[in-house]
Amino acid sequence: MTQARLETDRHAPLAALREDFPALQQDIGGNGLVYLDSAASAQVPLSVIEKMAQYQSHDHANVHRGVHTLSHRATEAYEGARDKVQAFVNARSRAEIVLTSGTTEAINLVAQSYCRPLLQTGDRILITHLEHHSNIVPWQLVCEQTGAELVVAPIDEAGQVDMQEFTRLLDDNVRLVAAAHVSNALGTINPVRDIIARSHALDIPVLLDGAQGVPHLAIDVQELDCDFYAFSSHKMYGPTGVGVLYARESLLDSMPPYQGGGDMILEVTFSGTTYNELPYKFEAGTPNISGVVGLGAAVDYLQAAGMSNIAAHEAELLDYMMAQLANIDGIRLYGTASNKASVQSFMLEDVHPHDLGTILDHQGVAVRTGHHCAMPVMQYYDIPGTARASLGLYNNTADVDRLVTAIEKAKQVFA
Ligand code: ALA
Repeated sequence: MTQARLETDRHAPLAALREDFPALQQDIGGNGLVYLDSAASAQVPLSVIEKMAQYQSHDHANVHRGVHTLSHRATEAYEGARDKVQAFVNARSRAEIVLTSGTTEAINLVAQSYCRPLLQTGDRILITHLEHHSNIVPWQLVCEQTGAELVVAPIDEAGQVDMQEFTRLLDDNVRLVAAAHVSNALGTINPVRDIIARSHALDIPVLLDGAQGVPHLAIDVQELDCDFYAFSSHKMYGPTGVGVLYARESLLDSMPPYQGGGDMILEVTFSGTTYNELPYKFEAGTPNISGVVGLGAAVDYLQAAGMSNIAAHEAELLDYMMAQLANIDGIRLYGTASNKASVQSFMLEDVHPHDLGTILDHQGVAVRTGHHCAMPVMQYYDIPGTARASLGLYNNTADVDRLVTAIEKAKQVFA
């Protein structure tokens, strides 16, 4: 389905959109590919691929630097994508949209530029036990650098944050709360409005790791009232190597640059440098221009499909997938929170997840196996890892049925 048709047919069944994704139209091991690994990286629609190719073929030059036509076109394409992202997450101003290499860089930027100058011995950063390593390690680094302490709100067996414990840990020593919007390993949707309200009651800012939130839920940063929101293009049907840090303008204003280099300056002399206005103060060096153009095209694609349609479609499919998996003898589900998006982790008896994943791959079914960059979650359950099936807008019940058939076959192999 083309972008043009999408725009005139907003209620087209989402599953039909899989035709837009060239990578999904192939066989693996003689079977049609069933792609259930969108939480690791979503596939890219043709409209995004073509937009990036068109940019590279006709409009490429460096941004913000030239008076010639191509540089103007490149700058327009790059800044146009920023405007699309601003509208997509409803930021108040384009100055609040910092383009980064991904969620990881966005979180490291906040750790080093917001937290490092602020933190002292005795201060704390509060996270949850559900976090991806990229929402753990940057805080460990800044705590080592400053003498601050990282504290962790526990989870329960279903994979939900214990909000009573969270509230007990949220005291006057906490300088920042950082939490996943949606857990990549378990699919739990954290009670982020509650987390933000409780934190703001003590004037504590909140960073949300939105890497798994943006592809599946309609995000309005003003309505959420978060202070920082980090996300990646490649989880939302765009290219790799690009991401976004949304941050309140007042916070960005108060923060020193994260990296020095070209484009983030107004004037450089050997006696000192003055910095560029927001958001450029945080965008040193030549950016990933074609990647950002691709991100803009991915935003167009998601908006045409409609985030509420996507969320409804995926919620229904996740319910179906959880029920079908739960019916298989020997399957144990990890992550059974009442509020979830797009992800189901599981183990088959005592089969190592990598072995299971390999047998599924032989049947054309792609799932991620291992610790999912969330080792503390695996430590909580005392397991080496899980197999994880994660959904995108292009998946359908036939994909889930193929997963179930492939697991049944794997059971015979391991019997
Ligand atoms: N964060 C990615 C995942 O969950 C890589 O698989």
